[in-house]
Amino acid sequence: MCGIVGYLGPQDPKKVIIEGLKKLEYRGYDSAGIAVLHDGKTKRIRAEGKLKQLEDKVLNENFNGNLGIGHTRWATHGPAVEKNAHPHQVGEISIVHNGIIENYLEIKKELIERGAHISSDTDSELVAHLINEEIQVTKDLLLAVQKTLSKLIGAFSVVVLWEKSPNELVAFKDGPPLIVGINEKSSEYFVVSDVQAALNYTKNFVYLEDREIVHIKKEGIKYYSALGAPLKKQVITLDWTSSQVEKMGFKHYMLKEIYEQPHAVASALQPHINMQTLEVNLNNVGFENPVEEVLKKIERVMFVACGTSFYAANVAKYLIEQLARIPVDIDIASEFRYRKPMIPANTLLVTVSQSGETADTLAAIRMAKEKGALTLSITNVMRSSIDREAHGHLYMNSGVEVGVASTKAFTSTLALVNLLAVQIAKARGVLNKDAEQTCVKNLLAVPSQLEMVLAFDKYFSEAAKKLKEFKGFLYLGRGVSYPIALEGALKLKELAYMHAEGYAAGEMKHGPLALIDSKMAIVVVAPTDELIDKTISNLQEAKARGGKIISIGSGENLALKSMSEYYLSIPEANWMTNPIISVVPLQLMAYHMADSLGFDVDQPRNLAKSVTVE
Ligand code: G6P
Repeated sequence: MCGIVGYLGPQDPKKVIIEGLKKLEYRGYDSAGIAVLHDGKTKRIRAEGKLKQLEDKVLNENFNGNLGIGHTRWATHGPAVEKNAHPHQVGEISIVHNGIIENYLEIKKELIERGAHISSDTDSELVAHLINEEIQVTKDLLLAVQKTLSKLIGAFSVVVLWEKSPNELVAFKDGPPLIVGINEKSSEYFVVSDVQAALNYTKNFVYLEDREIVHIKKEGIKYYSALGAPLKKQVITLDWTSSQVEKMGFKHYMLKEIYEQPHAVASALQPHINMQTLEVNLNNVGFENPVEEVLKKIERVMFVACGTSFYAANVAKYLIEQLARIPVDIDIASEFRYRKPMIPANTLLVTVSQSGETADTLAAIRMAKEKGALTLSITNVMRSSIDREAHGHLYMNSGVEVGVASTKAFTSTLALVNLLAVQIAKARGVLNKDAEQTCVKNLLAVPSQLEMVLAFDKYFSEAAKKLKEFKGFLYLGRGVSYPIALEGALKLKELAYMHAEGYAAGEMKHGPLALIDSKMAIVVVAPTDELIDKTISNLQEAKARGGKIISIGSGENLALKSMSEYYLSIPEANWMTNPIISVVPLQLMAYHMADSLGFDVDQPRNLAKSVTVE
């Protein structure tokens, strides 16, 4: 978490850095700060709270240097107060840091013994102390950084500014992403946590790998290993535009992203469907051998992910086990990596991660590779750390997702796991051509079904107004709708700060029925499938005890409608594609509730989008 921008170039660094930080605010918004050279001295300005506070504070400040660093923070060590905000300055050195220094207590003790005065509660400040100590001796920023890097343990990315050297930045990473942006024409250089922060200025980027150092000078850029060996790095030209990161007239990014879902799902499907034969073809995922050959040998599939991506993995379990008749395990990445998991031979390990940077998911894929698993990543951000780690690659193709609560990445992933289920089933010889074509037709119908759901947004917004009367929410579903209930509850928690729990409808009688009273809403995800009658029976039990039911059903389901306070209709679909459609009303209801309560929908309190610490 945390967003970093470093800039060297002819423009006003304050403007470029603040503009860049705005694009990175999704990574953390507890405090922000910048340090820019002015008359050969470091001028540092920091502010508690969102970036806007910093913007107001620097409005009338002028800087005449060509160099600066900026940061937007998601607090790890120490509360979100100004003294803990970045940049941290010690003597001539200023740094911005993303991540965690695990041996910080040890470093702190040693620094104090050497007489250092520590002014914040952060682990980050210690890095500035160490580099400042080294620079006194070496008088060489690159060398000082190299020496410091050898003392750090943890997951970090850092950009360093030395006020004695007005045309030089050094940055390094071991864990969280750090990307160098280069515009040779305008002699501008950037070091950023995410390319979005520099896309207005360049499309040329170099992705740093762990324990690499970049040395940026006016005369050009050089790359080194932690031990100082020069490295050759590949410059990648991206075709993204910065307009993909604008709100385009929507009140919030999240709302825009919800509305982008028909297009996002179509873009996820498009590269893998042969429109003539209506066949699925995942040959382009990048495995060394033809995909059918590879998947034929697979005896188990394991999914590892966090948050909303984990709920997408839950859906995948239902789809792949039922269609392809192969065991599928699902794991939360932070649990998986420490429970010494058994990864049998011939396992396909699939990670799902919108950002491709989630620290626990990244650790999981590395571990699985070490244990010999074949790995497949489902990511939205191409060339992200997880994407670079995997053997095979599926892309959500959702376009940039800015809202902290994930929406379009979720539905695009559900489309992709449909394809994966079909491809595995084919490879195992349990799906004939007709059945495959039916699956493909069902999938191709999804974008227009999503358009239909979105067209009824006013009903979801009305329902949201009524839902505010309730104190607690139980989200229920059976089968493939169960993970959608979990995702619906998560959306309400993270956006509207209301207590919501997702439950398997059949589990109600094992506890949650005790919670039911007039203030407890029961939101049920019940599109028509082979379990619908069982879901309705479970709802009868809840209704008989005074439960108030808000249901999402396919078309006009009269049985469901008659027992519900509010009935929200979605288009009839197939059991495999239902989850892609039924989640949208839940996203919209959570969005409208949070918005009408005046909460910051795009940046819910205490959260961040890209979780690069464990
Ligand atoms: C954070 C975000 C969630 C996201 C989760 C996993 O918690 O707020 O929206 O689902 O991280 O992120 P990933 O990028 O790995 O999908």
